[in-house]
Amino acid sequence: MISYFNKFIFFSLTLFIFSFISKEALSDGHANFEWTPEKPYYVIEDPNAEGSEKQAINKASYYGYRIFHQNCHVCHGKAARGSSFAPNLLDSYKYAQKGEKMGNKVKYDTPYEWFLDTVVNGYKREMAGGTVNVMPGHGDVTDVMTNIDGIFGYIAAMADGKLTTTNRPGKGWKIK
Ligand code: HEC
Repeated sequence: MISYFNKFIFFSLTLFIFSFISKEALSDGHANFEWTPEKPYYVIEDPNAEGSEKQAINKASYYGYRIFHQNCHVCHGKAARGSSFAPNLLDSYKYAQKGEKMGNKVKYDTPYEWFLDTVVNGYKREMAGGTVNVMPGHGDVTDVMTNIDGIFGYIAAMADGKLTTTNRPGKGWKIK
């Protein structure tokens, strides 16, 4: 009796572990995607798509792309590559990853904290004449605040070299 019971437990446990492993192995890494500051995006290839949409990105980052181009492009340039007025945010992100970037003269623990503080409160810089707020805070811009994780993911995907297009990426969540 007991041994049958043990066999049953063993069998179900094996089945359970196996189904878990095979599901992980079969998925291409985005099916169970959950946004975290450490892994704020996924990029997958869509061989059936045209042009820039061959690279498809997760939903939040796709909206991040759109909101970026409505609100940040004007200063930070196309695909955050910088302008004569504002920095290339791909470079900034890499500095932040190394812990080198200090934003508003505060030490940040993570790139996400640096990003949030800068976008919400703006960027202040000490000049000879005093503190100048060169980047306006976006804390009251609803579109930006509701898509902040996506904007971060969009920039991280480009800074990591995973999203190489500077045009509109495809919608990764549609690819099955
Ligand atoms: C009015 C122009 C302007 C707009 C609009 C703007 N920025 Fe900026 N931003 C700047 C400038 C200028 C700096 C750099 C200030 C400096 O280095 O003195 C900056 C800095 C930053 C930084 C910090 C860069 C670093 O090297 O630490 C981040 C992050 C950033 N911006 C993100 C954004 C995002 C995201 C948006 C859109 C929601 C946005 N910015 C919109 C002008 C702008």
